Amino acid sequence: MTDAALARQPAYRRVLLKLSGEALTGAGQYGIDPDVARAIASQVAEATQAGVEVAIVVGGGNIFRGLAAAAHGMDRATADYMGMLATVMNGLAIQDALEQIECPTRVLSAIAMNEICEPYIRRRAVRHLEKGRVVVMVAGTGNPYFTTDTAATLRAVEVGAEVILKATRVDGVYDADPEKEPNAQRYTRIGYTELISNRLEALDATAVSLAMDNQMPIVVFDMTRPGNIVRAVLGEQIGTLIGGEVTA
Ligand code: GTP
Repeated sequence: MTDAALARQPAYRRVLLKLSGEALTGAGQYGIDPDVARAIASQVAEATQAGVEVAIVVGGGNIFRGLAAAAHGMDRATADYMGMLATVMNGLAIQDALEQIECPTRVLSAIAMNEICEPYIRRRAVRHLEKGRVVVMVAGTGNPYFTTDTAATLRAVEVGAEVILKATRVDGVYDADPEKEPNAQRYTRIGYTELISNRLEALDATAVSLAMDNQMPIVVFDMTRPGNIVRAVLGEQIGTLIGGEVTA
């Protein structure tokens, strides 16, 4: 564990870490970069050693993006199921990287595939977390038409996480797309309703409204910066906090 992590009391007891599938690609064009998986695993292990219970929901955009396929004419539900299967591969890669460094991990799937992983059962997920295991939840919600951000929010509420930490390639929520608008401004904090009414695309409206209904804070941060996952899990103020209050 780093000195900084040792010196700090974690701000959270239980968190839901949402990992972007695309960020797993790292420097490559496609799939999973083992170095990225290893870097994520070592930070998650560090956070669990600091006493934080970590549940992970992982996306699948590095392998298959359902919405994009649907835009090219594929049946939306079929495309979404393919996207869900992509998240299972990512989840197994994360489990492998965590268990290589002896961090006990369970993969729970919303779509039954018992030969590969456990079925998602809420009470079992909570029990695994209480025992200090990292719980990787895959296959989204098991339903088409829902994003992995919505799955992450649902699971966070279900298992009683205190916060959703959305680890992505952007360092927060901006008032315009920072990859297209060089003058885009980053919010430090933003309210749920402001995010929805301004149609900011950091998260989809279903995920944000579910978080709002359950007063679940969301932190959006850049996972490509070394050490940021540990910082976010320990409660350091990075990225953008989405919550009940309006912009400060
Ligand atoms: P406890 O009951 O708390 O001891 O949890 P445990 O996960 O250690 O025990 P269990 O006997 O349930 O699981 C042992 C191993 O089998 C773990 O790696 C589980 O992830 C795995 N496992 C459990 N259920 C299933 C399943 O339905 N399918 C698959 N593929 N693996 C499973």
